[in-house]
Amino acid sequence: MRVFVTGATGLIGSAVVADLLSNDHTVLGLARSDASAQKLEAAGAEAVRGGLADLGAVRAGAAQTDGVIHLAFANDFSSPEALANAIAEESAAITAIGQELVGSDRPLVVCSGTPAVPGRSSTEEDPLPTVGPVAGRGITVTATLELAARGVRASAVRLPRTVHNNGTGGFAGVLTNIARQSGVSGYAGDGTQRWPAVHALDAATLFRLALENAPAGTSWHAVDDEGDQVKDIAAVIGRRLGLPVESVPAETYGPLGAIFATDQPASSAHTRAALGWAPTHPRLLEDLENIEA
Ligand SMILES: NC(=O)c1ccc[n+]([C@@H]2O[C@H](COP(=O)([O-])OP(=O)(O)OC[C@H]3O[C@@H](n4cnc5c(N)ncnc54)[C@H](OP(=O)(O)O)[C@@H]3O)[C@@H](O)[C@H]2O)c1
Repeated sequence: MRVFVTGATGLIGSAVVADLLSNDHTVLGLARSDASAQKLEAAGAEAVRGGLADLGAVRAGAAQTDGVIHLAFANDFSSPEALANAIAEESAAITAIGQELVGSDRPLVVCSGTPAVPGRSSTEEDPLPTVGPVAGRGITVTATLELAARGVRASAVRLPRTVHNNGTGGFAGVLTNIARQSGVSGYAGDGTQRWPAVHALDAATLFRLALENAPAGTSWHAVDDEGDQVKDIAAVIGRRLGLPVESVPAETYGPLGAIFATDQPASSAHTRAALGWAPTHPRLLEDLENIEA
């Protein structure tokens, strides 16, 4: 397949591009800068210039390919307003892609987060949240899955709190960055809350499997570690950076404070059984050993 990938230069997207190219697909990636276009071309993909807000470019990318994997997101958590703007930008772009694909039966794979369900691991059957700071993303994904009824083979890969590669990425990466700045490797609350995780190279394989095989309207969990206690994550970060490990106020994490404090393990049993997905890369606590002081 010739596949249009947004976010193709990111931590997850670059792994997705490599996985697609090594499995007989070709890639057209959305590139918002010369540097991103060069990165894509060096990886063996083609680039189409434009940002998520350039709906013409986004539509054109979808129009000239056999399927779409959408990963681009501004990832601006600096304030509630910045986060809301990033969510609105992404929502408009996904809507434009979906409109382009209506009636084509082509695949559209979008991403969201694994949901949190009190007292147990969430499953692929659980709905995405409709309240909270990132609920707008889930609402857009849910609407996208409804395009199944309009001739789009839409599916969603739900990502855990940390998608990592070489010790960086995701919420664990945020903990590392804050530890470097503050001199304390912190965690919210008592740190017993659990976060799921996956290596980016394993997540990439699941995006490809969903593109190739997922029935319309389905959701999948890219989860390897069902739940690592956050105090254990902070302990590795603190040891690698030579910093004390302590509980810190949830406000340290800005608009994401409540999410950082929540116990939110997730299961991928259905995904593994139905799509034959089998993660093989290092788990989070092992990968964090790559952090350099
Ligand atoms: N990593 C995780 O732990 C994790 C966990 C849950 C969900 N996710 C989600 O997975 C997706 C990919 O995450 P990631 O970790 O790979 O992110 P990342 O490394 O920050 O990469 C973001 C990608 O999106 C592109 N991008 C950002 N804003 C854009 C815009 N306005 N227009 C066009 N392209 C834009 C970036 O392009 P440039 O290279 O040009 O900057 C880059 O390719 C995101 O939706 C993220 O929220 C990630």
